[in-house]
Amino acid sequence: MENGVKQLVLSGKRIVSGRGSMAFLKTLSYQRVVMVTGGRSMIATGIMDRARKMLEDNGSEVKMISGIRKNPSFEEVEEGVKIFREFGPDCVLAVGGGSAMDAAKAMLLFYEFPFLNRDNVVAYKDAGKIPAQRKTALICIPSTSGTASEVTRGTVITDVQQKLKVPIMTDCLRPDIAILDSDITMTMPEKIAAETGMDALTHAIESYINHNLDDFDEALAKAAVAGILKYLPDSCLKQDPLAREKVHNYSCMAGISFANVGLGMVHGIAHSFGAVFDMAHGLTNAVILPYALSFNRRDPAVKEKLEELSYAARCEDIVEEITKLKESLGIPKTFRDAGITEEDYAGNRQLLLAHAMLGATRVNPVPITEDVMDKMLDVCFYGKTIDF
Ligand SMILES: [Fe+2]
Repeated sequence: MENGVKQLVLSGKRIVSGRGSMAFLKTLSYQRVVMVTGGRSMIATGIMDRARKMLEDNGSEVKMISGIRKNPSFEEVEEGVKIFREFGPDCVLAVGGGSAMDAAKAMLLFYEFPFLNRDNVVAYKDAGKIPAQRKTALICIPSTSGTASEVTRGTVITDVQQKLKVPIMTDCLRPDIAILDSDITMTMPEKIAAETGMDALTHAIESYINHNLDDFDEALAKAAVAGILKYLPDSCLKQDPLAREKVHNYSCMAGISFANVGLGMVHGIAHSFGAVFDMAHGLTNAVILPYALSFNRRDPAVKEKLEELSYAARCEDIVEEITKLKESLGIPKTFRDAGITEEDYAGNRQLLLAHAMLGATRVNPVPITEDVMDKMLDVCFYGKTIDF
């Protein structure tokens, strides 16, 4: 909208939160439900069986699609769509991390609107031709606390051939119900809790320093930054139930904020490295975040906002605090430390650069030229000083 008039969604459509809130599934009644989940954890811990039972007890026929990988591809989505078409669900239930939720969203999109496919979806999205309404219900139960796909209007699918992450944003992808049951996150390993938590922190900070920030999302993003910094260490290192619950809720709040406001260059670079090296999204963000903030604070408005966040988080300097947090959670400082070889980096350098200029980099608070990005990639890979 123009002249500073904004239309905001400040809650997702419906959020059911609290430990044990998965039992909300008992209140729902659908004819055919497709459940979508990732690797093994939600099956091994019995969560999928519990979800299935609650749905079946209410008369639903249930089918499960499992094995969604960490960067879901269009091929996986298309396989899922075939199952959707045979089964004809009136509800999709995604249980898992960002990958499972994103894959489920894309499957639903292609199932509901058969004229869409991987070749035309971006063009349709850009032209605003994807209908906002759909018939099939979408419910998300996140098992990690980071992506916030449970409340956003987007999904990110990887084009394996082009080594490119393709974001698809449209209102019909906003889930009808987000169930934030932190009991489900209790089996999340420390490493995943750390990486996904850093993704949530990145959402909150990138949203907060974005020039598009509004008064409403400011409150959500600021609370999320302070809350995640406070609770993430105990959530990861002690598996403390209260800390897990807090991070789960703050992650969702950060998601609501960035869905309205936008992100920045951390996500632009993260998607580039994530697609080329098949790295976990949270890990890529965690590597980049302090470097990108150090660069962005040359903008006086960003500098001021980072000071506000330092105050809110009761620390001297938020960027130093994040660097310390990374270290305490065992997150590598640079992409080289994360295990990417110099040879692989050099071999993919041009592709990384071209893709890092796309997406959220375009809405970074400091405009990014290719020359600057070229140097930023080395900063993130080697940990070089920002002297440009
Ligand atoms: Fe993210």
